Amino acid sequence: MQDIRLEKILLIEDNDEDARFFEKLVKSCFCVRSPRQELQVIRAGTPREALEIIRTEVVDFIFLDLGLSEEAPVEIYLRIREVCPLTPIILLTDHYNIEKASEMIAKGAEDYILRSNMDKGVLERVIRYGLLRAETLRMKQEILSMVIHDMKTPISVTSEAIAFILDGMAGDINKEQRNFLTMARRNMRRLTEMVDNLRESAATELGKISLRKEKINITEMINEMCDGFFLPFKAKGLELDRALPGKDVYAQVDGEKLSHVLMNLIGNSLKYTERGSVEVSLIENVASIEFRVKDTGPGIPKDSLERVFVKFERTKEMIKAGKKGIGLGLAIAKGIVEAHNGKIWVTEGMRNGAEVVFTLPKG
Ligand SMILES: Nc1ncnc2c1ncn2[C@@H]1O[C@H](COP(=O)(O)OP(=O)(O)OP(=O)(O)O)[C@@H](O)[C@H]1O
Ligand SMILES: [Mg+2]
Repeated sequence: MQDIRLEKILLIEDNDEDARFFEKLVKSCFCVRSPRQELQVIRAGTPREALEIIRTEVVDFIFLDLGLSEEAPVEIYLRIREVCPLTPIILLTDHYNIEKASEMIAKGAEDYILRSNMDKGVLERVIRYGLLRAETLRMKQEILSMVIHDMKTPISVTSEAIAFILDGMAGDINKEQRNFLTMARRNMRRLTEMVDNLRESAATELGKISLRKEKINITEMINEMCDGFFLPFKAKGLELDRALPGKDVYAQVDGEKLSHVLMNLIGNSLKYTERGSVEVSLIENVASIEFRVKDTGPGIPKDSLERVFVKFERTKEMIKAGKKGIGLGLAIAKGIVEAHNGKIWVTEGMRNGAEVVFTLPKG
């Protein structure tokens, strides 16, 4: 394995003996290295320890024991994947949880090793394969990110042209033409949302998320956002209410990213609510501001309150109801809110409808 550069491996394993065996075996794969290239195996005994490590340092490779007793293995895997979207993750499993390993491979884990089969040859093969898969994925993400970026301009030019004609700037249009153009505008809005989410998601995966914070008038931003939603709400016969403080509220945030969060939350309430209303509220606290988007739709089931923030996760109720979506909006909202050191959650115990709340520090 002299051709492979690997500096830090994270081993998530609660059994001391298994950990020692693993460390010895993995080091034997790289044994002819010079002292300067020493391979470091960092051990985490619990998922919490593992999360602390990957939040503070970069690791090149992760081995995850599926027999950790604390939590369901899939949940642990998803939380680690969220922090390390492009790091190869290999699962260490026994015969009894091979099914779980397959489920995680379907969710993006690179491979698994059966403990009873683990030897130097197997370990070398999965490391090579894991790195190759992760690199291919990274390149695909780079290309995707460039393509998505280039889609932005033609979409906005087309949307502006549609708005121009609808506003009568290119002469009178008849009722039928207006109906077609209104439909085109609705679809362009959907396309814009999808491209924005894909762009944000690709940037996050490639580690390119960066905030450009400035002092923003939040009250004004919410008003503008709600004005922009006026037509689609009207078309669906829904009310869009605002509950804002009587004065302007300011905060130090990335305005573009914050409007992206609001767009996703209001967009969800619009998409998933068939009757009634949606309310956007803003509350000013001493050191933070709080946003609430509440609707009278079908709501989010109790067992999905956390899961909806995971990429590509959608509730089966909404899939069954034929609602279209990729499952990116809330994951992106969470990424943006947490990058601002804020928090986002779905209110528990709502009897009717859904409510998503997030807070951001003012400064
Ligand atoms: N207001 C809501 N009411 C009911 N279910 C909701 C609501 N908001 C989100 N959900 C559920 O959470 C899931 C995840 O939402 P998310 O915004 O991440 O993805 P999406 O709306 O499916 O797709 P998109 O990537 O286009 O936003 C949805 O598929 C839906 O099942
Ligand atoms: Mg959505």
